Amino acid sequence: MRILAIETSCDETAIALLEIEGSLQEPEIKVLGNSLLSQAKLHEEYGGVYPDLAKREHKKNLPILLEKTLEEAGYPSTSSGQVDFIAVTSGPGLEPALWTGITFAEDLGKKWSASGRKVPVVPVNHMLGHVYSVLLKGKLEFPALALLVSGGHTELVYIKDFGQYQVLGETRDDAVGEAFDKVARMLGLPYPGGPEISRLAEKDREESAESKIDFPRPMIHSGDLNFSFSGLKTAVLYYLKANKDADRQTVARAFEDAAVGVLIEKTHQALDEHETKSLIIAGGVSANKHLQTESYKLAESFPGLSIHIPSQELSTDNAVMIGVSAFVNVNLDKTILDKSIDIEATGNLGIPQTSSDV
Ligand code: KG4
Ligand code: ZN
Repeated sequence: MRILAIETSCDETAIALLEIEGSLQEPEIKVLGNSLLSQAKLHEEYGGVYPDLAKREHKKNLPILLEKTLEEAGYPSTSSGQVDFIAVTSGPGLEPALWTGITFAEDLGKKWSASGRKVPVVPVNHMLGHVYSVLLKGKLEFPALALLVSGGHTELVYIKDFGQYQVLGETRDDAVGEAFDKVARMLGLPYPGGPEISRLAEKDREESAESKIDFPRPMIHSGDLNFSFSGLKTAVLYYLKANKDADRQTVARAFEDAAVGVLIEKTHQALDEHETKSLIIAGGVSANKHLQTESYKLAESFPGLSIHIPSQELSTDNAVMIGVSAFVNVNLDKTILDKSIDIEATGNLGIPQTSSDV
């Protein structure tokens, strides 16, 4: 099936055209066209994403990206590219930003349907998009455990099979990516802060074997699978207040050690408690090298466990993952293409929980 996918949940405007054949178990995914425009530089002065600005930029960029994507795939911009359906992120995310994508998708669906074949619009959960971004690297075996780490979310999700999700734990306050961004701001580093902190932390690890600071690892011994990162962020703030000429590199490394330490410890606990064949690490923070290294180390204690991490460009927000996730939705329920769905933007939409008995 041929899918046009649209992502506008935060500060990336993205459109991709995919052709996916085969089964859910063995999908053959071809990316025919893929374009993305990041607004990160525009939001930098706010130290985070400013919703009205995001909405304005998405509106401006969507037609440009559609033309670019179709052109890359070899279609004139006026053509429908013969798509079977349009996939669009409906949440979670910033509501004004989500609505821009949904309205654009629906208008396009109507326009393309008017010239013959009906082109339906399928809503996609952004977090499931991150989960299924790993299908581009190979097939998944179930049950799987997903550690989802992004700017808005930190959660552990147990996936018994395609379409069967249970959230095992999540953050009580800040998301881990948000903590990276806030600590980066305290250190005077640009937004988004994750890659900047990571770069400094790696340098520090090359220069000294041991970390010189030991930040707290909140909720590490809480016994459950929930997270908390606001205490860690505050600990960094107090440290910087008390140590006016602190070395940024040392602080970045100690922060990254603590944040990744908690993620790995909770993932370890979840793997101890739930039989798992595949460990998925996805969302923007999965691009973090230290997290990746520690995940591979963790997997050594679980023989037979395979690790699935998206490529660097598919770890942060993109439209390819939205198209792949829509392919999963449609395979699980083909009738969604015949229904006329009233798509709503839902800022705090969670993973669609299907069971509580794992
Ligand atoms: O998934 P994503 O692109 O957007 C959301 O859905 O939120 O995640 C963005 C987050 C930002 O907080 C960014 O700082 C973080 O991912 N991030 C990283 C790295 N690359 C991006 N955090 C740590 N290390 C990285 N290399
Ligand atoms: Zn995301």
